[in-house]
Amino acid sequence: MTLAALNSPVDLDQSQLFIVGQQRLEGELHVNGAKNSALALMAASALSHEPVRLRNMPDLTDIGAMAKILVSLGMGFHLEGSSAVLRGGGLTSHDPSYDLTRKLRASFFLIGPLLARHGVAKVPLPGGCRIGSRPVREHNKGLQAMGARISMKDGVVSAEAQGNHGRLQGCSIHLDYPSVGATETLMMAATLAEGETVLNNAAQEPEVMDLAGLLKTMGARIQGAGSSTIRIAGVKQLHGADYAVIPDRIEAGTFLIAAAAARSRLHVTPVETSHLSAVLAKLEEMGCSISPQGQGLTITTPGQLRGCELRTQPFPGFPTDLQAPFMALLSTAEGDSFVTETVFENRLQHVAELQRMGAQIHTNGVNAAHVKGVPMLSGVPVTGTDLRAAAALVIAGLAADGVTQVGGLENLDRGYARLEERLQSVGARINRIDATQTAQTAQTALTGSLDLSYSSIPDPSQGACRNW
Ligand code: UD1
Repeated sequence: MTLAALNSPVDLDQSQLFIVGQQRLEGELHVNGAKNSALALMAASALSHEPVRLRNMPDLTDIGAMAKILVSLGMGFHLEGSSAVLRGGGLTSHDPSYDLTRKLRASFFLIGPLLARHGVAKVPLPGGCRIGSRPVREHNKGLQAMGARISMKDGVVSAEAQGNHGRLQGCSIHLDYPSVGATETLMMAATLAEGETVLNNAAQEPEVMDLAGLLKTMGARIQGAGSSTIRIAGVKQLHGADYAVIPDRIEAGTFLIAAAAARSRLHVTPVETSHLSAVLAKLEEMGCSISPQGQGLTITTPGQLRGCELRTQPFPGFPTDLQAPFMALLSTAEGDSFVTETVFENRLQHVAELQRMGAQIHTNGVNAAHVKGVPMLSGVPVTGTDLRAAAALVIAGLAADGVTQVGGLENLDRGYARLEERLQSVGARINRIDATQTAQTAQTALTGSLDLSYSSIPDPSQGACRNW
């Protein structure tokens, strides 16, 4: 592992992906460790004085950003292949700087472990975000119920435990919404609290279960993670651990959706099927066949797919993080599809870019979209405005006729490690071109002979090869 973010190139946001669509994918794609689990697990390692080794860590800019925050607080962090060793012994600070935290929403989750360990924490608000407002009310309300005094000044949340020797107190907390981040923050805080904490209406996401898995390995007493009621009996201290991150269900889902969009057969591994059941059900409803093989899944796609209806929901419902990638697929499926986003209020920004590629999508201006499948998308320059929107545009590019040029790669790289290399390995014609490289370089890198000028791209209405 190199951890992209620790040495991220300055002009990352200048580079673009060039994708020659309509290539069949074939072979096997390996799924990396889950980004969202890894981030929470890194935060949890701050709860112990002893080293925590996390295996199967994804090589992502978000992971690098979290590592920088932990190091700034005095923690040790080093990489050994795909493992990261985090040493909480030197943790001295409890107030990460806004400069570091603003890049990462998950940085706010640190308020739980810092408060539990030091009795005090000052963490900048994560602020707004392109997909919605991302409030932290549930985190703060829960910490308050555990005896923390919470105040907010200049965009920084200050928390101070009022209990015995700065220790939080176990209590019963009801979340108004099963927020993943709030559940994780409060679960971490409760591990070192005095007495039992009960989290009601907790998030049931696999990443919450993974965090509980690490915490239990560190000596925490937790029951019920993965259900809506989690019980945590506080202990005085946690010890070190050696723990492997679960496979990334969102990355696995992205690969399966990409295979379907390219009308291909692909083996994706490893996959925990129960983590993706809502997505697999929709792919099958559209006409794909999915069969378990070894530790993974093989997807086979017919030439023609049917549209469907989907609604994002907390787990085990359809994940909001796969809504944009799935909409790219639906754009090429026959008939009408209906998509409703219920988790975030502003997560349809990919629609405008998909429309530029020829997708017929009408939204209600808020959170619902009617997708009328078209026989073929066409490659044009597009920009991924957030992580999953960028993934959606790569998928659309794989399906499209002609060359799609995807910008906004600083968003894509937050959640997918070297995506282009991995897609190339299964037959995609995709290349990352640095801003300083010329179109000629792009041309050579991609095909050796393909003309990448837009005038050379055939009119989709004249195209011979169509999806249906
Ligand atoms: C996590 C994931 C993100 C995923 C999301 C939902 C990480 C690092 N990120 O984000 O990829 O899209 O779960 O599955 O794990 N809310 C409140 N009050 C709060 C907190 C949240 O109303 O105090 C609302 C949010 O506005 C949003 C919804 O809850 O509408 C879901 O947010 P949440 O589950 O907290 O997402 P994150 O943990 O930030």
